[in-house]
Amino acid sequence: MFRRKNPDAVEAEPNDLTEDMVVVVDRAVNPYLVLFHEPAGYRAEQVRSLRNRLVAMNPDGEPKTMVVTSAVRGEGKTVAALNLAMAFAELERQQVVLVDADLRRPSCERYLNLNAEAGFADVLLGRTGVDKVLRPAGYRQLMLLGSGTRVGNPAEVLSASRLDELFHRLKERFQYIIVDTPPVLPSTDAGVLAGRADGTLMVVRLEKSLKKQSREAVRVLQDMGGNLLGTFVTELRGHDPESDQRLAYDPLPADEDPT
Ligand SMILES: Nc1ncnc2c1ncn2[C@@H]1O[C@H](COP(=O)(O)OP(=O)(O)O)[C@@H](O)[C@H]1O
Ligand SMILES: [Mg+2]
Repeated sequence: MFRRKNPDAVEAEPNDLTEDMVVVVDRAVNPYLVLFHEPAGYRAEQVRSLRNRLVAMNPDGEPKTMVVTSAVRGEGKTVAALNLAMAFAELERQQVVLVDADLRRPSCERYLNLNAEAGFADVLLGRTGVDKVLRPAGYRQLMLLGSGTRVGNPAEVLSASRLDELFHRLKERFQYIIVDTPPVLPSTDAGVLAGRADGTLMVVRLEKSLKKQSREAVRVLQDMGGNLLGTFVTELRGHDPESDQRLAYDPLPADEDPT
């Protein structure tokens, strides 16, 4: 029998299998991380365009913390935060870190195909120093502060003073600090994080997000002192270059007339 030995794959639980068959589940970088998978594509360009606008909103180049959030789960926050952080990491001489501040359902490490290690929660609880747990995210110079050891009381761990101290430390080393968060409506975490950050981006999943929920989330973020910078719209199918040729802008072959 031919047995696949793939170091990048995990074997499924043996009891899921018939005796002489090995099922492999690919453990790979999330396919929607377009900066990683399709850096020359239209979607990656859209993320860079958002990044450019955010850079333009920061003319002094002061270090900035930016929270990425949305009303409910599954709207693409983590994918948006990772893509945006990768786009910032493409800028020359800019140190960038992505913080997984979703202590309830962390997924940054999984999407980057990295193992879970000590991180954000451990730093907030004073168990370790932030410099000890920062590590490369696997894209350019982007660094990652993973969510860390699971805690039973995320709302208590996320105190305003601890967050202020951590953001202050990170600003000594990084120009852009992108923060992935849990959704706004089910818990107070995202509101607290947005209140301590310099800016907040709202993710809205076209055709899936409910307007009422997104509006309610915006209200909560504003009440918590969040500084809303813009909206990150995901799943723009109608504006896909495959469905609208006017939006395609692939480089022409060298011998073709550009007009
Ligand atoms: N642009 C997209 N189109 C389709 N699916 C997406 C897109 N972005 C993310 N997803 C998928 O949707 C699911 C939820 O995305 P995720 O970023 O984890 O959401 P959240 O962090 O808001 O819970 C994941 O399985 C992810 O792979
Ligand atoms: Mg998420």
